[in-house]
Amino acid sequence: MAFLSDAQIVINALDEYYQESISAQKPAITQQPLEKIISDLQLASYSHEGGLTGERLAEFMRDYLPTTTRLHHPGYMSHQVAVPHYAGSLAALIDTFTNNVMAIYEMGPGAASIEYHVINVLLEKIGWQPAPLNLHEVPYSQAYAGGVLTHGGSLTNLTALVAARTKLVPDVWDSGIPQDLAILAPAGSHYSIARAAGILGIGRRGIYELEVDETGAIIPERLPKAYARLRADGRRAIALVANACSTAVGIYDPLNEIGDFCSEHGIWFHVDGAHGASALFSKKHRTLLKGIEKADSLTWDAHKLMRTPTVCAALLLKDHRDLDAAFKQEASYLFHDKEQPGFDFIHRTVECTKAGLGLKFFFVLAALGEKGIADYIDRQYDLAGKAYDYLEHLDGFTCPVRPQSNILCFRVQGDDELQIRIRDRLNEQGQFYLSTTSFMGTRYLRVSLMNPSTGMQDIQDLAERILRLRKDLSRNQ
Ligand SMILES: Cc1ncc(COP(=O)(O)O)c(C=O)c1O
Repeated sequence: MAFLSDAQIVINALDEYYQESISAQKPAITQQPLEKIISDLQLASYSHEGGLTGERLAEFMRDYLPTTTRLHHPGYMSHQVAVPHYAGSLAALIDTFTNNVMAIYEMGPGAASIEYHVINVLLEKIGWQPAPLNLHEVPYSQAYAGGVLTHGGSLTNLTALVAARTKLVPDVWDSGIPQDLAILAPAGSHYSIARAAGILGIGRRGIYELEVDETGAIIPERLPKAYARLRADGRRAIALVANACSTAVGIYDPLNEIGDFCSEHGIWFHVDGAHGASALFSKKHRTLLKGIEKADSLTWDAHKLMRTPTVCAALLLKDHRDLDAAFKQEASYLFHDKEQPGFDFIHRTVECTKAGLGLKFFFVLAALGEKGIADYIDRQYDLAGKAYDYLEHLDGFTCPVRPQSNILCFRVQGDDELQIRIRDRLNEQGQFYLSTTSFMGTRYLRVSLMNPSTGMQDIQDLAERILRLRKDLSRNQ
């Protein structure tokens, strides 16, 4: 097996790639046509004939890496994807090489134990009682928290709502879905909530929109009105969903007040913290999630703000029994009474084959420590605040909200179309990669400051470039 020599080729190429990216020698984004990439990389020939090893592998790496979007580039500011710490990437190699699909303990005791451990780390951050290590001594019927790692925040949101639905309608797996179920959520929720509503048979029309203020945050005083509307329609709420933080502008909903409302009315409280729950690591910013312990379930992606390579998302529940009850199917070859020294996650997840996702997150955590994660969050959140102060005072720019996280939206003077054209031009030039979003009916440019090597100088260079582009575009009109 040419494992060692091929691995060396790959690692050398990645090291060079990293240096070129972090020093901005190569563009953050390059968009070549699909047909050209398939042809240039000789995909057809390799997949017919094989032989991707040795010098041919080195050549492939030389051709492949320039087709990638470089997340390590300081101009990478677009989507909420972790700029991975290399330790997490090494863990990904270990996980895929050992390939221990650990949803049943016997298929990966180490990977399952690591998942159990990192879930407990997160549960402690919320302030929930972690799951016991002495499983055989603690009765299953006892209440403590629990969780599972899934392949993404969207799947996590779906799984949380499956658990919430099962809690409200325990025989749903046998009887099917009653027609009166609904979800309470703000319009600015991530689209995976609407998707989950569709998959669960509730449908988009079963989502009752919660009133929000000018920043998009839920107004707790208006919750009774939305709930009264839902009840007047003869519906039952499986859950109320709040954001920590919102995808478009990164604003946190007031969880403390929402939590009180939910417990008063016996409504399952789900917090989508896919992006912003990581602020729980930060002493400075964890107040943004005040009241999080009142939630019943929380979505928390490690592959967003915790430097962990895709994918690794956590679903966390205050009461483990609600998660274990979420799914009711049986596969006799997997689910059966057996003596084992560990824990099966398979009851808690949509997936059957499930990667040992915890290893990547654990490696990053073990490299940086909790303080390292907290310092990173503080740096990125503070950078967004400084970028806001800078842009708000710069002629020609406006921001819709002061950022609470590392997501910042802004707009250069001009119409919606101009914002999109500017982003197109930036993409063509390649030194900066941003996203755009529509917020309260207006189009904004949007940066998600994920990269620990992005600094204020990059923001200033970006602003200058945008102003130049605006001039060019208006001249050409
Ligand atoms: C608030 C929120 N929830 C859920 C998701 C979906 O997470 P994933 O991309 O891991 O499926 C996102 C992604 O941007 C998000 O911002």
